Amino acid sequence: MSFTHTDLIIRPETPTDHAAIDSVEEQAFDRRDEANIVATLRAAGTVSLSLVAVLQGQIVGHILFSPVEIESEPSYEGAVAMGPLAVLPAYQRQGIGGALVQRGLEQCQQQGYGAVILFGHPTYYPRFGFVPAHHFSLRNRYVEPEHPAFMALELQPGALQGRHGLVHLAPAFDGI
Ligand SMILES: CC(C)(COP(=O)(O)OP(=O)(O)OC[C@H]1O[C@@H](n2cnc3c(N)ncnc32)[C@H](O)[C@@H]1OP(=O)(O)O)[C@@H](O)C(=O)NCCC(=O)NCCS
Repeated sequence: MSFTHTDLIIRPETPTDHAAIDSVEEQAFDRRDEANIVATLRAAGTVSLSLVAVLQGQIVGHILFSPVEIESEPSYEGAVAMGPLAVLPAYQRQGIGGALVQRGLEQCQQQGYGAVILFGHPTYYPRFGFVPAHHFSLRNRYVEPEHPAFMALELQPGALQGRHGLVHLAPAFDGI
């Protein structure tokens, strides 16, 4: 990953960032779905971590983590879902997305989370350590377990060992 911006600031979102985050999500995905998910998660109080990337005072990227439950014996609530992740089109491929992922994973680990689940580009996330979630025998309600977009990462070694369960994302993700 190349990283060229030495003046990039990554910090938690504040209420005055909401409109800019909405715009970044919409522009990055070229649709409203992800922006709406962010707003719904916020309204439901189900945001574990939300970071913005700021360049010269402008929000150019955003990443969000929300709680997930893994239906195993016993139920595991130490995991978070990563996403949506968005970088403004004009700022993509400059390392900003990678910086958001790395800072987000570090902060989730510091907050004590044991694992991260995501649905995303199978060629992008392995560089951060994500592996297919079926390696941990995880399942989900959206795609088949072997779908390459369904990935997982242990932040605490062994956190996902023996879970073998169904992953439940927050209801905001239903329907996407
Ligand atoms: C995906 C995204 C967040 C990456 O952010 P970024 O700042 O461009 O990423 P970085 O500069 O850190 O990394 C660039 C790498 O990401 C890869 N990448 C970017 N978009 C990708 C995509 N759609 N699929 C696969 N890889 C992708 C590039 O190929 C590049 O890989 P390389 O280093 O091997 O050349 C950004 O492209 C984006 O907002 N895309 C639109 C929304 C989206 O798809 N979000 C993620 C959903 S899983």
